[in-house]
Amino acid sequence: MNSPISIVSAIDFNDEPIPLENLHATAQSLLEEHGYVQVVNIPDGFDYIRFGRRLGSFVPNYGGAVVGNVRPEPGMDDVYHAGNHQPLTPHTEGYDFKHLPPRYIMLWCVVPAEGDGGETTLALTQPWIDALDDTSREHLLKTVYAWKTTEGIQRQGLDLRTEHPILEDTGSGRIVRFSCNNLLHENDVIATTLQHDWQSRYQSDSVWVRYAQNDILLWDNWRVLHARNAFQDSRRHLRRLQISASGGLQGRAR
Ligand SMILES: [Fe+2]
Repeated sequence: MNSPISIVSAIDFNDEPIPLENLHATAQSLLEEHGYVQVVNIPDGFDYIRFGRRLGSFVPNYGGAVVGNVRPEPGMDDVYHAGNHQPLTPHTEGYDFKHLPPRYIMLWCVVPAEGDGGETTLALTQPWIDALDDTSREHLLKTVYAWKTTEGIQRQGLDLRTEHPILEDTGSGRIVRFSCNNLLHENDVIATTLQHDWQSRYQSDSVWVRYAQNDILLWDNWRVLHARNAFQDSRRHLRRLQISASGGLQGRAR
């Protein structure tokens, strides 16, 4: 378990709100450096949509809602699903989208979980990709794998199936797609090793982000894995935006 170091405060040392443009510039700079940023000390009434829109265009969540909810849903604790109390294994978002996965994921906390658990955890993939041998990296760039959506989303009637490589180089940067349970392959030794190794590295390298009410957590979904620790408090409630790289003030990629 590591504590996050990429944190920006929405109020300054005089308890005055930082102008949105300045707050966004600092957040963007930290996001580029670390792959994620947590925004803390956010006053009630903060305009999350205005903040998120500066990064790019919004991508609808499953079911079409532009602002999604992440909170326990009745009768869903027996499947792998964001809308329950269970842990989520490390993954990227949008491997089940036909085209590009969302570039950024932005969560904000409406009600934090009381008691243990409920942290969102994050880890950068770049050092792990650098540690791969050339043969494995080429294999992950060239091999097109089958992917499925989560059990929870399937239960809600969306049986998404896609085909993508795990690593994809685009004109806007490298995309990493990853799942411990929704990447479909048989006896692909390099993919099996990757899934095992990255889960193991995630245990030691990930940062654990615990939310206070109103906090934002924003990360680059093309190069960062995320997961969730289990929790007990059924009132835990996050809201969620998926943001494409295009259309914002800074659509540039790394
Ligand atoms: Fe997720």
